[in-house]
Amino acid sequence: TVLYGVIGDPIRHSKSPVMLNRAFQERGINGAYAAFHVVPDKLGEAIAGVRALGFRGLNVTIPHKIEVMSFLDEIHPGAKAVGAVNTIVNEGGRLVGYNTDGIGYVRSLKEEAEPNLAGRTIVVLGAGGASRGILWALAQEKPAKLMLANRTEEKARELADAFASEFEVTPVAWGDLRQACQEADVVINTTSVGMSPNVDAVPIDPTWLKPGAVASDLIYNPLKTKFLQQAEAHGCRAHGGLGMFIYQGAYAFEYWTGQPAPVDVMRKAVMASFT
Ligand code: ATR
Repeated sequence: TVLYGVIGDPIRHSKSPVMLNRAFQERGINGAYAAFHVVPDKLGEAIAGVRALGFRGLNVTIPHKIEVMSFLDEIHPGAKAVGAVNTIVNEGGRLVGYNTDGIGYVRSLKEEAEPNLAGRTIVVLGAGGASRGILWALAQEKPAKLMLANRTEEKARELADAFASEFEVTPVAWGDLRQACQEADVVINTTSVGMSPNVDAVPIDPTWLKPGAVASDLIYNPLKTKFLQQAEAHGCRAHGGLGMFIYQGAYAFEYWTGQPAPVDVMRKAVMASFT
């Protein structure tokens, strides 16, 4: 049996074991994937354990995505650019770190809402850890304009500056969002506004978007946030956050096994586990 897992703190609500074990089963792979609760001061020992036990792959979630990098042998350029690792591949004893969150999000956006992002105008709300990975992945699609707004405006400027040598991100003042959204083909909420239990909150007024534009939310609890519901009522196309989770796992599966991920059964397994 080939061993896989996910480490985090907390970890008990993780849907990754259900999703990845279903994927192994579907592809006839003799793999076992488990969730491990690892507190921050045991992170180094956990990674040593991965080496000692010969795990083929590991997912890394909050709060370890940044700290884990110091325990690895190699960091993929995409993960280095984002400054965080969520997927480790054990290449014969060499631990290589990748980041599949941002690219997983973009694959979900393209599969489920807007196949062609090249030449589009995109507004990203929020400048936290999730936003960073998504901006990098969106930039690889060559949008015409990538705008970034954050409640704490200084953080949006800092994040735009951090990427300035690689691609252009235009910081937008939170107060200027109405105008920015009116121009946008895609507006993406990466903030926590609207997440359960505060399900009635919206990050911005969804009627600022053009009808026909894509409203996207990283939140998947609830599956369709108030922001998405109101945007849809306004004539926008809604894209929820569950796909990001599915496709970050799909990329991990593909890096570990070299086989295409069975995305549809993975999604069904996750949906079934919500009850
Ligand atoms: P993540 O890793 O999920 O991105 P994070 O790094 O904690 O989480 O970032 C949370 C994001 O949600 C930030 O952009 C935060 O804005 P601030 O930098 O101003 O704190 C945003 N956020 C949280 N609550 C918000 C609110 N009530 N209104 C607007 N933005 C909010």
